Amino acid sequence: MDPRIYDDYIDTKIERINFNKVFDLVKKICDKKESVEILDFCCGTGVFPRKWLIKLNNIKYLGVDINSNFIKFAKKKLKDNRFNFVVDDSVLFKTDKKFDIILATSSYHHIKDNRKRAFLKNIFSHLKKDGILIVYEKIIDTFSNKIEAVDSSTQFYLERIKYMMKTEKLSKNQLFALFNEQYLTAIRHEEYKVNFQYFKDDIEASGMKIKEYIKLWPKKILFHNDKVGDFVFLIVKN
Ligand SMILES: C[S@@+](CC[C@H](N)C(=O)[O-])C[C@H]1O[C@@H](n2cnc3c(N)ncnc32)[C@H](O)[C@@H]1O
Repeated sequence: MDPRIYDDYIDTKIERINFNKVFDLVKKICDKKESVEILDFCCGTGVFPRKWLIKLNNIKYLGVDINSNFIKFAKKKLKDNRFNFVVDDSVLFKTDKKFDIILATSSYHHIKDNRKRAFLKNIFSHLKKDGILIVYEKIIDTFSNKIEAVDSSTQFYLERIKYMMKTEKLSKNQLFALFNEQYLTAIRHEEYKVNFQYFKDDIEASGMKIKEYIKLWPKKILFHNDKVGDFVFLIVKN
């Protein structure tokens, strides 16, 4: 995807609300410390550092993404020596540094199921003892085979897209990208979303625990399972 198209696609009211929440949590931590080191796994085009984190002046940021076009774009758009970006696989990336905050916004579901725990263990090894992992994830309903996966994904996106159409004006590109995401999630190609318990088990198997979680969407009952929707998780080392 062209980085400009990704930027446009992500520029929706619901994503802004979700990023605002992640930012509030980051800011709360930053307000208590003199300086904060942030590692952002699967940082994409750098929307979050460019539009949100830039407001904080006591941070040092490193963004990692496998897509070299996205990293090139992020570097060009954010020329500030507090912000660095590298091309790498977030499962394999290594540095001697440890971080106060690790961000994974819409990242975990891009990692194939058989690499998810290695990804989380890599996060664990780069997190300070008292560090915080902040995850923003779309959580779908439980499925046990590929047909049920089609159901869980389709129901999730059907409700989310209808909600977005009711609450904001979406461009043709945004609608196309959303339905494409629905399709990719349904066939489990490039989008490997899972259910709440699966995510929790992966976190715990990686030496961490969920300290708190906030459900951002839906606020009303839309699914029979209340653990389906957009969530922000605050995760700590066990
Ligand atoms: C939905 S985007 C999220 C970007 C950003 N975190 C945000 O919230 O806007 C997912 C990103 O994961 C990246 N990605 C997928 N697999 C990756 C991997 N193994 N290592 C690093 N980045 C990866 C993609 O290139 C893409 O930029």
